[in-house]
Amino acid sequence: MRTEPAIGFFDSGLGGISVLAAAMKALPQERFLYYGDSANAPYGTKTAEEVCRLTGAAVQEMVKDGVKALVIACNTASGAAAKGLRERYAMPIIALEPALKLAHETHGQGTILVMATPLTFENENYKRLFSSYGEHAVSLPCPGLMDFVEREELESPALDRYLEALFEPFLARDTDAVVLGCTHYLFLRDAIARHLPEGVRIVDGNGGVVRQLQKKLAENGLLAPSGAKGDIRLKSSGGREKAEQMERMLARALRL
Ligand code: DGL
Repeated sequence: MRTEPAIGFFDSGLGGISVLAAAMKALPQERFLYYGDSANAPYGTKTAEEVCRLTGAAVQEMVKDGVKALVIACNTASGAAAKGLRERYAMPIIALEPALKLAHETHGQGTILVMATPLTFENENYKRLFSSYGEHAVSLPCPGLMDFVEREELESPALDRYLEALFEPFLARDTDAVVLGCTHYLFLRDAIARHLPEGVRIVDGNGGVVRQLQKKLAENGLLAPSGAKGDIRLKSSGGREKAEQMERMLARALRL
């Protein structure tokens, strides 16, 4: 009997687990392979060339493992590397970008704050996205914020201080929505919500990514047969401690 190949998920570390969990819930018959490059994280404060090289090397390993499709579950790596990876590999490759279009299309009144890494904001794709949908938006680079997630520090006085300083200039304005434009930030949703006035929407792109993945798998005849038994393999460049952390984060994300 043929072993079903896995769907690869890649991120600079733990953040993409938030996307993986959404995909596992929607596609329980699929096998998943997650690779987090925690040894080289963060990506968001590196150069595009460096991120492209690191992502390329990690994906090459995942391809050796025989993945049938790839989700670059990292906005930063998607911006820097998706184009080159699509030229190199024939499999479906799903890339992420901050869900500014979604926030814009559901815009009420006030400012849309887009949170992402510095490198995501430098990317040409983001600049194009912003010129189409950024009328009401402000880009908010968040260097160092992903590190709280990598340390599993999802609540702490230091995190509160970071978020307080980040949102302080906007509290007097009418804020409509906050876009979580980095997959790590989904794990900080509760802490972020506590620092925002009531009624501010928190928007992420996970639903769209999972729908896109389903569609691409179906179009390419790659969906696992219904009734198949799915599974998940977690791999990290950060050693055993990181691998254990991944398991805890996945359990947490599956409960969300
Ligand atoms: N999780 C990544 C993203 O979605 C970035 C974190 C990093 O800086 O490595 O952008």
